[in-house]
Amino acid sequence: MSQIQLKTALPGPKSLQVLERRKNALPSGLAKSTEVVVERAEGALVWDVDGNQLIDFAGGIGMINIGHRNEKVVDAIKKQLDKYIHTCSLVTTMEPYVELAELLNSLTPGNFKKKTLLANSGSEAVENAINVAKYYTKRNAVLCFEGAYHGRTLLTLSLTSKYALFKKGFGSYVPDIYRIPSPNTYRKANGMSEEEYISSCIEKLDEAFISQVDPESLAAIIIEPVLGEGGFLPIPGAYLRKLREVCDKYGIVFIADEIQCGASRTGKLFAIQHSDVIPDIVVSAKSIGAGMPISAVTGKAEILDAPHLGGLGGTYGGNPLACVAAIEAINILKSDDFLKRVNEVGEIIRTTLEKWKEKYSIIGDVRGLGAMRLVEFVKDRKTKQPDAEVTLEVIKDAVSNGLIMIRAGLFSNCIRLLPPVVISNEQLIEGLNVLEAAIARAQAKR
Ligand SMILES: Cc1ncc(COP(=O)(O)O)c(C=O)c1O
Repeated sequence: MSQIQLKTALPGPKSLQVLERRKNALPSGLAKSTEVVVERAEGALVWDVDGNQLIDFAGGIGMINIGHRNEKVVDAIKKQLDKYIHTCSLVTTMEPYVELAELLNSLTPGNFKKKTLLANSGSEAVENAINVAKYYTKRNAVLCFEGAYHGRTLLTLSLTSKYALFKKGFGSYVPDIYRIPSPNTYRKANGMSEEEYISSCIEKLDEAFISQVDPESLAAIIIEPVLGEGGFLPIPGAYLRKLREVCDKYGIVFIADEIQCGASRTGKLFAIQHSDVIPDIVVSAKSIGAGMPISAVTGKAEILDAPHLGGLGGTYGGNPLACVAAIEAINILKSDDFLKRVNEVGEIIRTTLEKWKEKYSIIGDVRGLGAMRLVEFVKDRKTKQPDAEVTLEVIKDAVSNGLIMIRAGLFSNCIRLLPPVVISNEQLIEGLNVLEAAIARAQAKR
């Protein structure tokens, strides 16, 4: 039986009413990639208020890898609810906070003593990671990358790369932030081998330390081991190793932003574990909370311990409802069974996407790691000119046929696939078929 069950056109009449209320009550700058108004969600399925059953390929932008309403997570939250909701980590000690910190300290890469600070959102965690790096190094400058997305608070928006969609109108930004291109093997010069290209990226990094910033003034280098918003670009191991070398040489804190690519999405608990590089700080959020607002800064104890007593914290950081959810989620995410399923789901998507690339010339590239996969649309395969219009057209078409989707990419010309990994093969294949039909229709029009 079909997993997508549509009873009305999308959006249906009840959804339209809520969407109208949203329009009147919420700021128009708050974007939405679909017109879906949710009634409930389970696993990889979402039901809207009109009774339509949809397949979720967005997973709330990769924040629900273990699926909507995982039973263990729901039970843990209910149990905690019956004890207490929150008493604030700046006032009392809550055991779930300590337990989650211990878990992350033991699971993040590196055989050194670690500590974890909890916060509420990815942005807040990145902000804290940069702050502790500054305090520890007694330096102000930060190096980040083109295509990066690190959040929308002032410091993290300063680190985020994309202007038109995210940064326009919100300046001035935090000073002493330096940005260099991140390796993008799809957009390397024609005729260049991948190795030559990566060497040229490494040369550009060395040049940046002459032309842009004194490496001895850098507190931190922050990088997503697989760029998320920037278009699912895995950073080559050689490049990550070079960053580690530079950090070691100049005493810079290496921060891995694992907010989107972590939580086992790529087939390892942390994406940086595909390389042998050990970061000083790992930032986690999204899927570690299975839908609850929680984020974490985990790193070398000496770095996390640098700020003075009272220098860190917030009212809600480490809320125990979110902590117990995260403990259950992480125990699932790290299990062999889950990682095996990530690779199965990833392989089904990868092989399907490879076939599409052969069939449809509007597709320039398909790529990713594990179950973090993406399709990039171009106007012309030779020039690789990004095609944001066709991307939007495909998303609208697929969504109107019951598939929840989002785009990505510095040029907004990619569709990212982040379905809950607990998706069944049947649901996954049906979703891929809906997406392919939308791509085929878009191709036929050109
Ligand atoms: C890599 C990365 N860093 C930081 C963030 C910011 O997280 P949040 O939206 O929870 O503030 C995101 C969110 O998409 C992200 O993907």
